[in-house]
Amino acid sequence: MAAPKIIVFDSGLGGLTVYRELYAKLPDAIYLYVADTDAFPYGDLHSDELVTRLLALFDRLIERENPDVCVIACNTASTIALAPLRAHFEVPFIGTVPAIKMAAEQSRSKLFSVLATPATVMQDYIGDLVQRYADACDVTLVGARNLAALAEQFMRGEQIDEDVLRREIAPAFIQQAGRRTDCIVLGCTHYPLLVELMQEVAPWPVAYIDPANAIARQTALVLSQMSKHTDAGAPVRANQLLYTGAKAIGENISSFAKTLGLVEVTRDEIIGG
Ligand code: DGL
Repeated sequence: MAAPKIIVFDSGLGGLTVYRELYAKLPDAIYLYVADTDAFPYGDLHSDELVTRLLALFDRLIERENPDVCVIACNTASTIALAPLRAHFEVPFIGTVPAIKMAAEQSRSKLFSVLATPATVMQDYIGDLVQRYADACDVTLVGARNLAALAEQFMRGEQIDEDVLRREIAPAFIQQAGRRTDCIVLGCTHYPLLVELMQEVAPWPVAYIDPANAIARQTALVLSQMSKHTDAGAPVRANQLLYTGAKAIGENISSFAKTLGLVEVTRDEIIGG
């Protein structure tokens, strides 16, 4: 069977943390990583605005690229727009949502936190996951204003202010009646990029829970259930990273993308609209 074509999508570079797991699991697929940097950060957008933007963007992207599957490697976009995207397009969409079930199973103190963008923590989707899977736990939802932007800065090779980072993650660390937080769900795909720095400034060690591997497994499963891939017969093309913003994403990021097999890094004015 021909190699499947997979679109991996995020507002910026965070989705690379999902992409790298996909690439490790499905190295022969053809990848198009799309960073909607023109609208970054999604965490600040109104839900209706985000849904409208994503429907229009995927209309152009799917028409042009004819992918087998689209992976929304962004918790904010998934918790807000996954249902409308699935309703609107035939191609399967795989989402990324905070790994609340995993944390509930893993936490011994039964006190864990979800660190995500302000938009993600506001979604009913999150409340439903907590109710469904973490009823026996005390869950703190933390909407971090600047953490995704800090991760982008870090990826550009800029210095990160440790005090700012410490302040962003501090509300996720709770001590209560002899118990303390022992797991933090990384509810934004940008955050795994900062996990080592977070460990350095954290008030105590915790497990950081990232669903990227589970998303790669789910994508492999969805592809294995398809009878054929739509790209059959098309010439194999290099894996690409496309971004929508006017600002060039810079040498540091291009080099990092190349280490992950994304050999072409280009601005795409059309898909951003
Ligand atoms: N990477 C995105 C997520 O997983 C969010 C970053 C943003 O605010 O755009 O939620």
